[in-house]
Amino acid sequence: MKKFSIPDIHSKINANEKISFVTAYDFPTSFYAKEAEIEMILVGDSGGMCLLGKKSTMEVTMDEMLIMTEAVAKANSSSLIIADMPFMSYQVSNEEAVENAGNFMRFNIDGVKLEGGARMSERVKSIVDAGIPVMGHLGLTPQSLAQMGGYKVQGKSIESIDTLMKDIESLINAGAFSILLEAIPNEITEIITNNFDIPFFGIGAGIHTDGQLVISNDMLGNFVGDINPKFVRKYAQLSEIVIDSFKQYKDDIKNLNFPSEENYYEIDKNTLDEIKKNFKSK
Ligand code: KIV
Repeated sequence: MKKFSIPDIHSKINANEKISFVTAYDFPTSFYAKEAEIEMILVGDSGGMCLLGKKSTMEVTMDEMLIMTEAVAKANSSSLIIADMPFMSYQVSNEEAVENAGNFMRFNIDGVKLEGGARMSERVKSIVDAGIPVMGHLGLTPQSLAQMGGYKVQGKSIESIDTLMKDIESLINAGAFSILLEAIPNEITEIITNNFDIPFFGIGAGIHTDGQLVISNDMLGNFVGDINPKFVRKYAQLSEIVIDSFKQYKDDIKNLNFPSEENYYEIDKNTLDEIKKNFKSK
């Protein structure tokens, strides 16, 4: 697949074609996404939970995000790659936000994502002014879990929709190239997407966005924990395959079934005879 770029997002939208978008945090997953011609990848701070066993995305650091982003970028030269700015990497000042966003761009990725609307618009503008594309993230924003009181569907009251609309306007004015909507009722997403002229991506936001994002570990059945979002469709159950494989491996070892002849390295017969002469068995 030819490299997917921000202008290609608009071409797909004009052609009425929805865009595929998954998270990846490591080299193999990013490579598989490229092989499957997935158009966009988010190196999400959800990697802290999926890969590093953290309890929430608030624990994820810039250093951890940089390691994951480098691995994802190295494996994939086709998908458009966005790195998620972790908690406290952009909240403190415009300068810190620009510097941290710039550190991601050194891996030749395509942009960054950050959570929040009007109150983050100054940060978005500063990063965009530095030449770095920014995706906004509204609705359920996991870095504000404490404020929201947990993983809750957003946009269910007149006031919250009013705030959402103002946040979208602020992000558009600040120069965001797209907005990710998380955990919003399908009908509300339809109203939103009909009202604004910016590419929208959705995760748990129904069918009316220009593209769909999913956490790859969720869709592949490769997540340890009890978060089970309704909006995820499972395409595989990797955890079962891995646990079964480990069990078979253990059984094979116990039963002297592994390793077997096809797993042995060979040695020249004459050399072996010579060695045996010198090292007689006890
Ligand atoms: O980190 C992530 O994967 C995200 C999604 C939940 C939208 O931000």
